[in-house]
This record gives sequence, structure tokens and C-alpha cells, in this order.
Amino acid sequence: MFSKRLNIEYEANELSLLYNLKTKHGERILDLTSSNPTKLNFKYDAKHILKHFIDDRSLVYEPDPKGMISAREEVAKYYSGVGKTVSADDLFLVPSTSEAYSYLFKLLLDAEDEVLMPQPSYPLFEYLTRLDLGNVVYYPLVYDYRDGWVPDFALLEKKISPKTKAIVIINPNNPTGSYIRESDYEAFNNLSEKYNLALIVDEVFSDYEIEAGDKALKTVAGFNSNLTFVLNGFSKMLALPQMKFGWILIQGGKKLKDEAVQRLEVIADTYLSVATPVQFAVKRLFETREKIQEEISGRINKNYNLLKKEFLLNPDIKVLNCEGGWNAILNFENLLVPEDEFVLKLLDKKNVLIHPGYYYDFFTEGFAVISLLTETDVMEKAIELING
Ligand SMILES: Cc1ncc(COP(=O)(O)O)c(C=O)c1O
Repeated sequence: MFSKRLNIEYEANELSLLYNLKTKHGERILDLTSSNPTKLNFKYDAKHILKHFIDDRSLVYEPDPKGMISAREEVAKYYSGVGKTVSADDLFLVPSTSEAYSYLFKLLLDAEDEVLMPQPSYPLFEYLTRLDLGNVVYYPLVYDYRDGWVPDFALLEKKISPKTKAIVIINPNNPTGSYIRESDYEAFNNLSEKYNLALIVDEVFSDYEIEAGDKALKTVAGFNSNLTFVLNGFSKMLALPQMKFGWILIQGGKKLKDEAVQRLEVIADTYLSVATPVQFAVKRLFETREKIQEEISGRINKNYNLLKKEFLLNPDIKVLNCEGGWNAILNFENLLVPEDEFVLKLLDKKNVLIHPGYYYDFFTEGFAVISLLTETDVMEKAIELING
């Protein structure tokens, strides 16, 4: 009866079964996996955020497939604030970047078409592609202690097939935290031109720089490029995933861009998903950006420096360099223990929860991912236990 796209693994894995059991018995777990900023004790400007949702204008429904022009203009202003010129006409509002992907896959893919995604990356993308009947084909990001994580373009090109429709670039990538360089973007563009592929550039973490260096390209917005869709939104930028506000910026040559806009309008008009109250509140929500980002970046940087310092003398566990985003990566390859065993033992014996690298499709065993949003006192205790 049901669609094959949901023929997936439904069983809880060993790690979550153990976690559930322990919390059921009232054990206190030091959880280093949460990436929900609204539950991690950040100070939000509650009054300022909430009061702008009460607006009489929200009682009138005036749908526009691209989203309200006043809200799109505010997004364009964000880009001018970071030195990029963007027209409100090139923006489509969406409730989240996840849904932006869904719109774009509907725009670009027929069933069984392929999308190139970086590996390692966040597990969500596999689902997003599958739900729109596409297939993910991974291209590797390779870690080098000098340059960090870089795309392997030779392998990427080999993975392009007649079914490939788009290349996804996550900038900075989750969980590796790696930004692309301008030369990488040129290489992506050359491939896009050579094989007639769209580029989808997900920049949800781009404001959260850690050790980025000057070569990192913080945004591809405003670049002269082939057909490119740039994604961002309030989920990470303002740490407000529940407000459901994001966007797609379209750029590229006029002919393809116009056609993409026309077709995207049909998709967006079919759903009209973005709620009116949030669109009226956009201007005032953007005003909270500086403060919340200062707070989040402060914690992220503190945690990252703490991790680097505390694992410096541990010969078996290394903290990989992290350019940006909300995660750090531990490399424990030297221990020669399977990831499952490592993370299960940590939870079982020390009540510390971290994610194994295979959740994010690392190529080899020996990695774990931890959230830098974790409250610093929890991080401190957990590091001591991992190191001990
Ligand atoms: C790189 C990346 N893009 C997009 C998303 C989803 O964001 P949204 O809440 O806007 O759907 C996530 C979720 O963590 C993510 O890691």
C-alpha cells in the first residue's frame, strides 16, 4: 500500500535504546549531541521576538508565491549588510531550508535522478532527496591537516552520470565545519557548466565562523555563476528553527534563471507554505541577529578551544580543525576500536553521549561528532570523563 520511499530502517539503534533506558531510570546523561539551540540555555530577547507577531495585518491573507515583498526586501538587506548585492526579485521565501531542498528537488529531479552531496554530511539530506524520489550520490571531502576538508573534484567528476541534476555544496559543511574557497566555487561552476548541472549552496551555518582563515568563502551570494540556488534561514542564523522562515536566492544567467523562477513559482504557489505573521515580523527578527550570534559564537568558540586544549596531550584522541558551524569532530582512529563500541562504552560506563561518525557517513571508522552548542559546564565534565 505504501510508497517505497519510506521503506527505511525504523528500529531504534543500540545507542538510542541505551540512552532511553538510562534516562528512564533517572540517570543524568551528559549529552553532547543536541543541536537544538532553543533548549540549551541561550538568552533570547523574548519580548522583542514575540511582540512583533501580533500585527493586525496578519488577519488578511494576501498570498504571493515568492513570499511578501516586504519580507524579501529585508532578506536582501541582510545580504547588503554582508557586502553582497541581491535583488528581492531573486528571492523565494520558504518555511525552512529543508523545504527549500524539497522545492528544488521538485524543480530539478525526475524519479531516480541523482544529486551529488558532500560526504561526510548531515543524515537529513538522504531523506530529503529520497522523499522527492531522487538518489544521493556522495562526493568525498578529504581531510588534510594543513588545508582542512577539501572536495575531491577528480572523484566528484567521475560520479557525474546522465542522471545527475545538481551538486549540493554545504558551506560550511555539517559536521566537518569546512567552508569552500573561491577556487573551489570556480571548480564547482566549471562542472556545473560542463555538465549542465544546477548548484545548490546551503549556507545555514555561514555566520558561525570558528577558525576559518581568509581563504574561506562565507557566501556565494552575489557571484556571477551558473544557475545557483543559495539557501539560508532563521533556523540557524537567528537560532529560531521554530519560527519557520527561510529563503532560496536564485542567481545565474538570465535565460535559465527566468525559467527556474517561473517553474518555482508554480511549486511555491501550490503550497504557499510561509505563514503571514512571521513575514511581518522578519524585519524585527533580523534585529536580534547580532546579539544571539554573539552569544552562540561565544559558547562555540569557548567549547572548541576547551576541546583543543584538553585533548592536546591525549595521544589517542584528536580534535580536528573546525572552520565554522556548530559541531566539532573527534578523531580516535589510533585507538583502533569500532565507533559503535567507543560511543556505547562512553554512554554505558560514563554517561556521556556523543554521535559516532558513521551517522554522518564518514568513510572510515574512528570519528565522533559533538555539538559545540553544549553548555560549557557539561562539556567540561564530559571532556574530563572522555579523557580519563
Ligand atoms: C547544513 C544544514 N542545512 C539545513 C538544515 C535544516 O535547516 P532548517 O531548520 O532550516 O530546515 C540543517 C539541519 O541541521 C543542516 O545541518
